[in-house]
Amino acid sequence: MILVFASSKGGVGKSTTCAALGAALALEGQRVLILDLDQNRTVHRWSRKTAIPGLTVEAVTMGEFTGILKSRLEAESFDHILIDLAGAREVTLFKAIARADLVIIPAQASEPDIREALVIAGDVRDVEDTAGRKIPYRLLLTKMYPLRTRVSDFAYAELARLGLPMFKTVLVERVSYREMFLNGQPPSLVETGKGAGAEIASLLAEIEDIVSTEASDPDMALAAAG
Ligand SMILES: Nc1ncnc2c1ncn2[C@@H]1O[C@H](COP(=O)(O)OP(=O)(O)OP(=O)(O)O)[C@@H](O)[C@H]1O
Ligand SMILES: [Mg+2]
Repeated sequence: MILVFASSKGGVGKSTTCAALGAALALEGQRVLILDLDQNRTVHRWSRKTAIPGLTVEAVTMGEFTGILKSRLEAESFDHILIDLAGAREVTLFKAIARADLVIIPAQASEPDIREALVIAGDVRDVEDTAGRKIPYRLLLTKMYPLRTRVSDFAYAELARLGLPMFKTVLVERVSYREMFLNGQPPSLVETGKGAGAEIASLLAEIEDIVSTEASDPDMALAAAG
């Protein structure tokens, strides 16, 4: 499957979620390619600190994107391609959405983040119209406080009002997500079955379910989901 991590806002958790999910899929024995288009090269630097069998991370410039994606798809060397985008609303965002089996839009529980997520959701629907195929997308709440707060209550009420589809899984603000980029160790390895590791497993299960039921070519998506 092709997963795209998109938001025009910086620092919402695109690279963190992409790296953690890529690692989780590879640890399941799948062949995973992450295309890193984030100009900070967060995921590419992380990959140098860790060696996960089956996981390849390539730093790609915006200009190279289409050519590299096409050639990696043609080579059929990977079961999944995860695309970590820059935190900007630029042309690569639209190109990547056009190829996605699922667009993941991370956002913190804040009014500006939810507004930005709404803009990206609109972009997905625009690309969907142009491409003439359904492109599923979900908002992912990240860096959540473990306890209910007035802010999280506001976020849930606002999301329900706007009708934005979202993952049931949320990513809580946890040290292990930050440590991943320091010591290279992904949550699925250091917190298997608990904490961040359990969150990533639950998110992955939701993703596989959405891709196998909602993607425009269910046969291909099922095969890709393994
Ligand atoms: N659930 C979380 N818990 C704790 N820290 C987090 C969590 N998610 C992300 N972070 C931290 O927040 C910072 C920004 O995260 P990240 O780099 O993933 O965001 P991004 O959306 O990719 O940003 P950019 O648009 O700049 O590429 C990083 O320091 C990361 O370690
Ligand atoms: Mg990033």
